[in-house]
Parts: sequence; structure tokens; C-alpha cells
Amino acid sequence: MNLSQRKMLGLFILICSIPSICISLVSSERSDSRLLLTSNDTSKEIHKEEYCAMYDICGERNGKVLNCPTRRPAVKPDELLSSKIQSLCPTLSGNVCCTERQFDTLRSQVQQAIPFVVSCPACLRNFLNIFCELSCSPNQSQFINVTSTAMVSGNLTVDGIDYYVTDAFGEELFNSCKEVKFGSMNTRAISFIGGNAQNFKDWFRFIGRKAEGTEPGSPYAINYRSTAPEASGMKPMNVTTYSCGDTSLGCSCGDCPASPSCSSSAPPTPHKKRSCSIRVGSLKVQCLDFSLAILYIVLVSTFFGWGLFHKKETKSAASRLKPLLNVMDEGVNNSINKQKNDVHPVQMPEEHPPVNKAVQLSVIQGYMCTFYRRYGRWVATNPTLVLCSSLGVVLLLCLGLLRFKVETRPEKASAFVTTYPVVNKVDQAGGGNGKAVAWEKAFIRLVKVSLMLLPDHLFLSMDGVGY
Ligand SMILES: *[C@@H]1O[C@H](CO)[C@@H](O)[C@H](O)[C@H]1NC(C)=O
Ligand SMILES: *[C@@H]1O[C@H](CO)[C@@H](O)[C@H](O)[C@H]1NC(C)=O
Ligand SMILES: *[C@@H]1O[C@H](CO)[C@@H](O)[C@H](O)[C@H]1NC(C)=O
Ligand SMILES: *[C@@H]1O[C@H](CO)[C@@H](O)[C@H](O)[C@H]1NC(C)=O
Ligand SMILES: *[C@@H]1O[C@H](CO)[C@@H](O)[C@H](O)[C@H]1NC(C)=O
Repeated sequence: MNLSQRKMLGLFILICSIPSICISLVSSERSDSRLLLTSNDTSKEIHKEEYCAMYDICGERNGKVLNCPTRRPAVKPDELLSSKIQSLCPTLSGNVCCTERQFDTLRSQVQQAIPFVVSCPACLRNFLNIFCELSCSPNQSQFINVTSTAMVSGNLTVDGIDYYVTDAFGEELFNSCKEVKFGSMNTRAISFIGGNAQNFKDWFRFIGRKAEGTEPGSPYAINYRSTAPEASGMKPMNVTTYSCGDTSLGCSCGDCPASPSCSSSAPPTPHKKRSCSIRVGSLKVQCLDFSLAILYIVLVSTFFGWGLFHKKETKSAASRLKPLLNVMDEGVNNSINKQKNDVHPVQMPEEHPPVNKAVQLSVIQGYMCTFYRRYGRWVATNPTLVLCSSLGVVLLLCLGLLRFKVETRPEKASAFVTTYPVVNKVDQAGGGNGKAVAWEKAFIRLVKVSLMLLPDHLFLSMDGVGY
């Protein structure tokens, strides 16, 4: 370094203590600036790989944490944090731009959206990737530009950012999620997590808006852009997306009608052909329904026929039975009072010898007989009391209806049924269930992530069906 160069250096250091001037000088003397500016200089934007634009948490507003604007190289996380991050963001295996606290915040935030799209892993993966890259990517400064900052309790915090994301990513993300149904209500998940967006731009606008007060959402404004200014060193985020028709992250046909395996109408057709149907007038009825209807009619007519037949018989026997019952009652009463035998031989008038055998009553029958007779008498003598009290009991039991409310908040729902369709063909040569094993591994990985992300009041249960 000769004398004149040394003088130049001195001059630079002097001027650079006034930051705004420094920027203009630096941009004109790019090569020299490298020598002078260290990572903790806050006056110049750095947009290059392995550099962060935000790091750590510098403040809170309405319970939402705010990041610190920064210009520092990405940090190597410790082993535990790294594995934690990879469980949510598998692509971030090296350095990162987030701390453990930040990551925990990220996880709890995305957790709110998970139940809506968990039925379609491809959509979930793409959706998580936006936030993984935003918060933790080591190349963060390449696609994030902190556009405004705010002082919060004496710390400088991020107040607004530009997030550069390629249109290709946005388009793919939207396509993989647009048809995903939200379990119990059969509405589209995007009406909850995307404000009913019709395209990815609407969706980005929705998730990027700054949440007011305590409502859920982003703590600072995120302005999604697709093309970075030339020569700024910025490069839009373009991580790999997964199509919802991707077999490794399969979504059901309901969630992904565009999937090639769903568009072919082959599977439903043989099913239709096999099921038989019968034409009744202008109505087409399934065989099963038809036979059930016939069975029902037969059963009902048997029942009524038997009833009718029996009634006739009892009518003819009624005249004979009436005095018998009276006598029988007394007989039972007497025998219970007198002697507690296992069998009460009931005194029958001699003129009805055939019924004699049938009315041999056991102790239990005797008790029931007395009880129901007394009960019947009591009911018959107090009809008003009985009617009113039964009405009263029913009304009392209905009191709960006063607090009856239809749950319209889906996040309070307690169960989601999720179907992951997989076709595993066992190889003819034997042992060829590699596909199944691979899928199982992928599924278990997904379950681990989901488990970690499930809100406390949800639990996961797994079930499998073999074909
Ligand atoms: C930049 O930060 C590092 C470590 O944080 C420190 O050692 C160094 O002195 C700082 N440099 C300047 C110019 O502030
Ligand atoms: C301000 O930042 C420092 C260091 O980043 C942090 O320790 C402190 O808690 C922050 N203050 C507030 C109010 O968050
Ligand atoms: C960061 O950028 C470099 C260069 O473009 C790339 O090789 C690397 O995979 C990126 N890292 C991540 C985590 O995206
Ligand atoms: C980043 O944001 C700042 C402040 O809004 C702006 O001056 C600068 O031009 C932006 N840089 C890029 C590369 O967009
Ligand atoms: C983003 O990635 C997709 C596929 O990975 C590629 O087709 C597209 O050209 C990329 N876009 C940019 C701007 O790099």
C-alpha cells in the first residue's frame, strides 16, 4: 500500500462516519468498499447469498415479535436447532438467519394455518416454504429488502419488507392449494388461509398485510414483489415447488382434481358397471336399495299381519281371559303375602283348565306383576300429576338447549379426517415393496412435522386400509 492509497483510506474512514454520504461513495468505489465495510456497518444494503437481512427479535408490538434489521452473515446453528429447523424446513440444512426464539415464533404462527391444508401435503410443503425461506434462509438478503424500520422501546425493529418471490413459485403454490378442501365443512381451505384469493397475487397481498391490533397476521408489512431491480444483487426466491399431483406428496382427488391420476375417469367407470340398478317407472334404483326396500315391506307386512291375526285370536279369548286375570291378580297377591315360594301355583277356576299351566309365576314375575299393577293404578289415579311431571322432566333435560350454539369457528373443530391415497403394488418377484416403504417413511416424516404443529386440542390418529 503506497502513501496515496493510505491517504485515500483515511479519507474514506473519515467520510464514512457520516453514513448517508458513505453510501454514495461506496457505490462508486465498490472495490475499495470491501476493505472498509465490515458486517456491522448499518448504512449499506447487502444483498448476497449467505447474508441475512433480519436476525433475532428486537421488540414486541401487540404481542407479536418484531425482527431486528441487520446485515450480517448467516449463522451456523447448533445441532439441536438445526434438526429442529429441518423438521419444519427440510431444505435449510446449513447456516440460517434465525435464532431459536425466532424459529419457535415461526412455528407457532404457521401452526394456525396447518389444520386447513394438512390434508394436502404438497400444498402444505409449498406454503411452509414461503415462511421458512422468509425467516430462516441463509440467502435471506437476496430476496428480502427491509424497506422501513421503527423504534420500539429503544430498539430498531423491522416495520416493512419487500419479499421477492418468482411468479413461477407463486403460481405453483396457488395451484397446489386452490382446490384443497377444509375437512369438516367442505369449504375451500383458501377461503380461510387466503382470504378467498382468486390468484397468488391476492393471496400474497392477504398474508402480507400488517395485522392491526391483536388480530392474527404478520407483525410487519410484507410486500410481495416478483422482479428485483437490476444490478441490486437481489434474486427472487424460487425454491422447488411440489405439484399436488406429485405422487410422493399425494393429495386426494378432492383436494387436487388436476392430478393426472384423477382426471382419467377410469376408476369410477368399472365401479358403475358393476353396481346393478333397476328401472322403476322413470326412477333408477340401485339393486341394494331396491332389495332393502322389499325386505322392509315384507317385514312390515309380516308384523302387521301377525298383529292383525293375533288380535282376532285375543278378541275371541278376551271374554274368557278377563275373569281369569282378575282371579290371577288376587291369587298372586295372596300367594306373595302368604308364602314366598319359587313358584306360585295360582288358583284357577276349574272352568279354564288349559290356561292353568301358562300362569305359573316365578318370584320375579310376581314382583313385577305387583309392581306394575300398583304403578298402573297410581298412574291411572293421578293422570294430571304424571302428565305434568313427565313434561317437566323433559323440559328440565332440555335446559341445555338454552346454551346451544353452532360452532362456526373451524379452528375449534376437534377432528379432521385426512385421506392419503397410495397405490402400492407388491412386485411379482417378491420383496418389491420398496415403494410402500418409501412412502411410509415420507409419511412418518410428515406426521412428525404435523404432530409438532398440531394445536394442543387436536390429536393425531392413524389408520390404514389394505387392498
Ligand atoms: C463488528 O462486530 C464484531 C463482532 O460483533 C466486532 O468484533 C467488531 O469490532 C465490529 N466492527 C465494527 C467496525 O464495529
Ligand atoms: C433490544 O435489543 C436487545 C438486543 O438485541 C435485547 O436484549 C432487548 O431485549 C431489546 N429490547 C426490547 C424492549 O425488546
Ligand atoms: C443459497 O444460494 C446459493 C447460491 O444461489 C445456493 O447454492 C444455495 O442452495 C442457497 N441456499 C438455500 C438454502 O437456498
Ligand atoms: C431497499 O429498500 C430501500 C428503502 O426503501 C430502497 O431505498 C432500496 O432501493 C431498496 N433496494 C432494493 C434493491 O430494492
Ligand atoms: C424458478 O424455478 C422454476 C423451476 O424450478 C424454473 O422453471 C423457473 O425458470 C425459475 N424462475 C426463475 C426466475 O429463476
